[in-house]
Amino acid sequence: MKKTFILIASAAVLASCGGPRSPQDKLTINDKKIDAIIAQMTLEEKVNMLHSKTNMSSAGVERLGIADMNYADGPFGIREEGVPNGFQSAGWTLDSATYFPTGSALAATWSEELAYKYGTGMGKEARLRGKDVILGPAVNIQRLPVGGRTYEYLSEDPILSAAIAMEYTKGCQDQGTAVCIKHFAVNNQESNRSSVDAQLDERTLREIYLKPFERAVVEGGAMSVMPAYNKVNGAYCSENEHLLNEILRGEWGFKGFTVSDWGGTHSTMGAMLHGLNVQMTGSNYLGQPVIDSIATGALTEDLVDEKVRQILRVRYAIEAIPADVANTVMTSQPESRQIALEVAERSIVLLKNEGVLPIGKEVKKIAVIGQNAVLKTQSGGMGAGVKALYEITPLQGIQKRAAEAGVEVCYAPGYKNFPGRRWGPAAASTNPLEAAAINESADPKLLAEAVALAKEADFVLFVGGTNKNIETEGSDRKDIKLPCGQEELVQALYAANQNLATVIISGGPTDLQVVDANSPAIVQGWWNGTEGGTALAEVLFGDIAPSGKLPMTFPKQLEDSPAFALGNFPDKTQGGDLFSLMYRPDVLKMSREERQKLIDALPKPVSKYTERFYVGYRWFDTQAIEPMYAFGHGLSYVNFAYGEASASAGKDAVKVTFTVKNEGAMPAEEVAQLYVSRPEATVEWPAKELKAFQRISLAAGETKTVTLTVPVKDLRYWNEAVNAWDLEHGKLQILVGAASNDIRSTVEVNI
Ligand code: BGC
Repeated sequence: MKKTFILIASAAVLASCGGPRSPQDKLTINDKKIDAIIAQMTLEEKVNMLHSKTNMSSAGVERLGIADMNYADGPFGIREEGVPNGFQSAGWTLDSATYFPTGSALAATWSEELAYKYGTGMGKEARLRGKDVILGPAVNIQRLPVGGRTYEYLSEDPILSAAIAMEYTKGCQDQGTAVCIKHFAVNNQESNRSSVDAQLDERTLREIYLKPFERAVVEGGAMSVMPAYNKVNGAYCSENEHLLNEILRGEWGFKGFTVSDWGGTHSTMGAMLHGLNVQMTGSNYLGQPVIDSIATGALTEDLVDEKVRQILRVRYAIEAIPADVANTVMTSQPESRQIALEVAERSIVLLKNEGVLPIGKEVKKIAVIGQNAVLKTQSGGMGAGVKALYEITPLQGIQKRAAEAGVEVCYAPGYKNFPGRRWGPAAASTNPLEAAAINESADPKLLAEAVALAKEADFVLFVGGTNKNIETEGSDRKDIKLPCGQEELVQALYAANQNLATVIISGGPTDLQVVDANSPAIVQGWWNGTEGGTALAEVLFGDIAPSGKLPMTFPKQLEDSPAFALGNFPDKTQGGDLFSLMYRPDVLKMSREERQKLIDALPKPVSKYTERFYVGYRWFDTQAIEPMYAFGHGLSYVNFAYGEASASAGKDAVKVTFTVKNEGAMPAEEVAQLYVSRPEATVEWPAKELKAFQRISLAAGETKTVTLTVPVKDLRYWNEAVNAWDLEHGKLQILVGAASNDIRSTVEVNI
């Protein structure tokens, strides 16, 4: 009979250990038993746990009843089952999951409560699939508007990212699934992602790029962490002493294990000595070479024991699901789909409205124009895709809602869709709706057909944007222009019918200058999950008031944003990367060794972060550059009146109180935001920084009193002179408002 150790971190066990423990310390409660188990393991069995077993698992020890660790992508839906040694579909039928709104959409809710629920949905569906660890949340700062993974990531702001990351982590782990928070750290570009050296100062690293990870680990208790592909200040993240040993384990007290990004392990000694636990995938570094290094005395078995202990802490905190129990029901569950809907409803951002939205009762015929109205966004984008049980597209959502109101809907594609970069040699497309180039101009036939529909309708909905082949892991966009003649199209549509609203379906910002001149209303609709089309229709028809707020700045033009303005991006050295080479037919034919040789000979790119902590709105505000739409911006169908704020500063926290009134005739939600400015500082600070926020639900005419608390520790800066957090005492200006550029009340305190 198979021996099984069940060492669950139950409340009773915790209580018997006395005193409250930090979320990380809770992971150590089984250490004595774990050490007894390690004592029974052979060196081979231990080392076998330090690398992949299959593409999505690492080994346990069957003889001792230690289950394998099963991983699942993450971050916005449990990925479909792949074949054991690759990402290709395993062809299962019960693995359709809930497609949750992607990262930027989740962050646009500015809702900690929804982030927690989102985590529970992910965690529950992972359990149904027998998965122990979700490869997510993905929490890197959105440094570049063009970033290929901006849509997976949460925000350009560390406080907002950290709050969402922590709640997602808690929600997921409360369901008994570990998170693997990624990509640690400074993984802000896809260009040269596996070789680029992100070079930045310690203050910027601490205040901006590490914050979301810090909160998820220290307060959220994240059980595992994925070191990123890139280097930070000279060392690969998977062997970065400063990041993994000094900060993550040393300062933050992390007790779990680290898993390299897929293909992101670079050496045996580096990984072993500088903080990596598991090589994913392959065993060429953390397999036999570890055993050989112990034989020569270069490594000790104690180090292997420590790594195994860290893995087993998580193995025993997470109940292994027997193979015959997992995968017996469909992954996607109704309650998760309800969460996906709630997130989508609150993520949609009304960027502009000159009175055309919501769609009025007098409208009897709507022309929906644009391929983004019918494109599904669940899959594509490389790693982060979901085989959704279903996905309501914008057009389907609008059609259903319009039918209920007796409104006719007609549709035309309007423009060609750019299918993006394909693996291997490009085959000429035979699809007449596919463009050959991203900057192809509008197709005259499609444009004429769309204009004809627009003329006949009472209302035009132009649904444009990008797609998951344009915004994708593995490459960054060249610019933020709307692709394939969409600008020309919206101009023609507006000339034909001025009763028009534009909906942008994208994960990151697009250049909206032409759209703005040709649309009385603009809605940012994101990649909004399984119920995205339903939520969009609810907002457009005014069943609910829009309440999303931008989690990142939408610049007027790319050149205004900090890394571009300072010439830090694109990197000056190009081509040093496996991921860019993978598309070359000659490279595809090479052996692993030949490929490695080629890569080693290429120049090593560097990304200089000389914009420092002036990321996103911190740059725009300090430089007084007007963005297209500011960080935190988002309109409603009602007006919110803010009362005057009062503030008091205590030893540990600053408390700020004010009222918010819904002056409209329908229920609505508002996200009140609190920024801090330091008019008399001697230390260098951005013009203002977000420090707290709250989503408030208000009935028509209702007023609520809101109190926001800013922990004093969040007001500190990283003092490089002493290499520690430091507090600058003195006057603080507290700015309360509806967006970073819409401050309604200002109050001063001294700290
Ligand atoms: C991505 C990770 C992902 C992993 C496994 C990598 O290419 O960077 O985010 O979790 O693949 O799919």
